[in-house]
Amino acid sequence: METIKIRTANEEYPVIIQRGAIKNVAKLISLVWNYRKIKIITDDNVNPIYLDIVKKSLLNKGFKVFVSTIEHGEKSKSLTNLELITNEMANEKFNRSDGVIALGGGVVGDLAGFISATYMRGIDLIQIPTSFLSQVDSSVGGKTAVDLNHIKNIIGSFHQPKMVIIDPNTLNTLTVRNLVEGYAETVKCAALAGGKFWRLVSGVNSYNDIINNADQLIHFSITFKANIVMNDEKESGIRQILNLGHTIGHGVEELSNGDLMHGEAVSIGLIKISELFSNPKDKAKVVDQLSKRLSNVGLPITSDLLTSPDLINKIKNDKKNHNGYLNIIYLSEIGKAVIKKVSIDELNLMLNEKS
Ligand SMILES: NC(=O)c1ccc[n+]([C@@H]2O[C@H](COP(=O)([O-])OP(=O)(O)OC[C@H]3O[C@@H](n4cnc5c(N)ncnc54)[C@H](O)[C@@H]3O)[C@@H](O)[C@H]2O)c1
Repeated sequence: METIKIRTANEEYPVIIQRGAIKNVAKLISLVWNYRKIKIITDDNVNPIYLDIVKKSLLNKGFKVFVSTIEHGEKSKSLTNLELITNEMANEKFNRSDGVIALGGGVVGDLAGFISATYMRGIDLIQIPTSFLSQVDSSVGGKTAVDLNHIKNIIGSFHQPKMVIIDPNTLNTLTVRNLVEGYAETVKCAALAGGKFWRLVSGVNSYNDIINNADQLIHFSITFKANIVMNDEKESGIRQILNLGHTIGHGVEELSNGDLMHGEAVSIGLIKISELFSNPKDKAKVVDQLSKRLSNVGLPITSDLLTSPDLINKIKNDKKNHNGYLNIIYLSEIGKAVIKKVSIDELNLMLNEKS
């Protein structure tokens, strides 16, 4: 068992990485929670595989358990589900000394997180992430949100969990495409971190390599994110570097109308932003190294959508657009991130010149 401690201004919580932990959640949870009512929020893919195991463990320890199962997919990160589940919890007489468990991927994590942040102005949350993306990224850091129609994460807040329990064995039931798209965020973090993390990622060339190195990949990703979050909980400074590849990535993701998964779009964004901004001297090396790491596991590194005249309009709608300017994150070399303020007009010119 490995424990990584996350410290923010007002909170400290453990992230536990342990194969088989899913069968043992109550024992781990008892380290931070005494007897209470627990609402497990999960989705209809994760429920049939893992709910009984988690529920049994909690009931055996004497916790009282209620369950809400949402449909899988981004559309469930909705105000409707927020209202529905909040209503259920009120009827089930949940109060602020009870707790919520998010059992699933990032969609469940973000929705359960936001419900926990808002229910009676805040109730305890434990994250049990089961997708690769949620294990390496979304379960840590305290960002929670729901979408409003098609505007992603527009309503949200920061609410840190009391504990995160990661069982890498759960990755075995994830589809290959889901696992690989989640891995794009790991390549991004490794490229930002450089050093040992980048060397680990440089040895990963297939789906099997991701599965076989999952513990280490999760360890490095969380440690990297934790260091950044601990220094910049609310994303006013250094945390912005985690947006590497996301400005263009979000644009092509939206233009693809659901054809591209988030990680696939980020992969395309990582390469494009490096082509546009990395220092001329190091550009070929950065682009080449990143391209190999991404394409070797089957991630796309380019798209016809990059030449769409609509791309800039999607980028304009980015919530990180401040009065026509974006903070563009790029790598001057692997392990060295640069933040550069660029106007949308300038970015548009660059996209048109280079495409
Ligand atoms: N809060 C943050 O810091 C943060 C960071 C990045 C992304 N996100 C959010 O995360 C979401 C994406 O997360 P995601 O990629 O995990 O998507 P997801 O939650 O939709 O999970 C992907 C799919 O895998 C299924 N699944 C999950 N675990 C499984 C398992 N072990 N076995 C079988 N199937 C399983 C789910 O049912 C779903 O169909 C987005 O809404 C994004 O905005 C949040």
